[in-house]
Amino acid sequence: MATTSKRLLVSDLVSTDKIDQVPSNYIRPITQRPNFQNVVRDSIPLIDLKDLNGPNHANVIKQIGQACADHGFFQVKNHGVPESIIANMMQTARDFFNLPEQERLKNYSDDPTKTTRLSTSFNIRTEKVANWRDYLRLHCYPIDNFIDEWPTNPASFRAHVAEYCQSTRNLALQLIAAISESLGLHKDYMNTQLGKHAQHMVLNYYPPCPQPDLTYGLPGHTDPNFITILLQDEVPGLQVLKDGKWVAVDPVPNTFIINIGDQVQVMSNDKYKSILHRAVVNCDKERISIPTFYCPSPEAVIGPAPEVVTDDEPAVYRQFTYGEYYEKFWDNGLEKCLDMFKTS
Ligand code: OGA
Ligand code: NI
Repeated sequence: MATTSKRLLVSDLVSTDKIDQVPSNYIRPITQRPNFQNVVRDSIPLIDLKDLNGPNHANVIKQIGQACADHGFFQVKNHGVPESIIANMMQTARDFFNLPEQERLKNYSDDPTKTTRLSTSFNIRTEKVANWRDYLRLHCYPIDNFIDEWPTNPASFRAHVAEYCQSTRNLALQLIAAISESLGLHKDYMNTQLGKHAQHMVLNYYPPCPQPDLTYGLPGHTDPNFITILLQDEVPGLQVLKDGKWVAVDPVPNTFIINIGDQVQVMSNDKYKSILHRAVVNCDKERISIPTFYCPSPEAVIGPAPEVVTDDEPAVYRQFTYGEYYEKFWDNGLEKCLDMFKTS
């Protein structure tokens, strides 16, 4: 009979306790399990950003718009983030999660309002079933407000992560302008609506799991923020929902996966969809993924852009502040919150 776990972090349950069964608090009811037989292999569009600011600009914008409308997900290459910065970021995450338990736990907190914290699962204060994931969550813009809270072990942590954040912010700003333009809005429209902007990142660590068919790294969810820039290592695990089927997205080196979050769905008045996705785990390999969540500032007022609202397509959502939305998200245990903000 499976037992419940006593360790704070799932990584230590695996590496120190060497459990060979998933403890009962991680087991999903039968109807909510990953069901690997039904997962299809397919791909999401791969968009080359080389010409985003060149003669082929209009075509790249069109590809981005199409991907946002049809998939809510796409991959990008020639994205401008140097390979060395990506490699340093990945190595830093690996080194952090390889630190001794006591050293990692110095950063531990189960309080979702803390701006720097190591935690596990999703929100252990409210959720009923735990997830096979540990994570270090960092706020990273404006960087000077937060960097002094970040870990100093490994010694290069702050330098490497800061470089990565600054580089992905540039990419985020270009993508937001492109998404704005692809909807027929002024390229600065969305950027302006985001207010002062916020950027969070997560270092996700998914340990190997003795029974991956019983649990999730992260169950199906949409991202509450504006856009997400996901870096993943070479171990597959991300699945996205397309036409009612889960599609496994295989990692492609030196590309990022971009997905639009709930706030783009709202501003686009449902023209672009924030798509359900999940992370599954496997028996033999640890997996690291590093999403950058680009967010409106908490005070930003979000609603459908006036230009996309017409008599035939009236506003689907009311206006709200991002702070209000974000609080609902953490309280609701990863359930999609968009419906709570609909006009009718
Ligand atoms: C997330 C997420 C996917 C992954 O952190 O929101 O969807 O592959 N992660 O880790
Ligand atoms: Ni996500």
